[in-house]
Amino acid sequence: MSLHRQPRFISLEGGEGAGKSTVLERLAERLHATGDEVVVTREPGGTPLAEQVRRLLLDPDHEAPAANTELLLVFAARAQHVRETVLPALERGAWVLSDRFSDASYAYQGAARGLDAGFIAELERRVVGIEPALTLLLDVPVEVGLARIQGRGGMDRIESEHTAFFERVRAGYLERARAAPGRIRVIDASQPREIVGDLAEGLLSAHIQANRA
Ligand SMILES: Nc1ncnc2c1ncn2[C@@H]1O[C@H](COP(=O)(O)OP(=O)(O)O)[C@@H](O)[C@H]1O
Ligand SMILES: [Mg+2]
Repeated sequence: MSLHRQPRFISLEGGEGAGKSTVLERLAERLHATGDEVVVTREPGGTPLAEQVRRLLLDPDHEAPAANTELLLVFAARAQHVRETVLPALERGAWVLSDRFSDASYAYQGAARGLDAGFIAELERRVVGIEPALTLLLDVPVEVGLARIQGRGGMDRIESEHTAFFERVRAGYLERARAAPGRIRVIDASQPREIVGDLAEGLLSAHIQANRA
């Protein structure tokens, strides 16, 4: 494996409505308590150019991108995010907390859209090169996550996918977690938000302790 694992790089993963944005706030607070610089970012996005790519990806008003187009746009955004935001922050000694990262491509473009995981891994090696040291996977039954985002207003292109698509996303994430149990920690995110937040913060605190110089 040629990915460089970054001790101060943490990602949050999970399907729509799993509670990533909710947990992110708790984790950002916990990281700020270290006194170190904290950079909170997201994918697709995290730089002005990558945020434009995100808009293209989520816009339902043009023809749907082919699966390979979607994959390459996601990795184009990620390449920019890594070079312009993630690596400079890590080099400054900051903590980087990202709402989604490469695991999302294995779940969405791989498991759900059916693209080859070997090709995704090749892109990851060549254009990303790094991985988080800790990934928290918020796992919820698809119908629970979708019910939570019902009131959100206009659905983007991905949010408008069918239930079977999200079932494949969920299974893809869980398979990733089984293959990398040391890095990816699964949290039952169907529990009340305080409990999910406590579990996430506990895992983060243990990680911070373990990486204290
Ligand atoms: N554990 C939870 N139980 C119930 N509702 C939750 C929980 N966590 C988040 N929510 C609510 O569900 C919705 C989706 O949460 P959000 O954090 O935006 O998910 P995501 O970022 O993964 O799509 C929000 O309205 C949020 O307040
Ligand atoms: Mg969110």
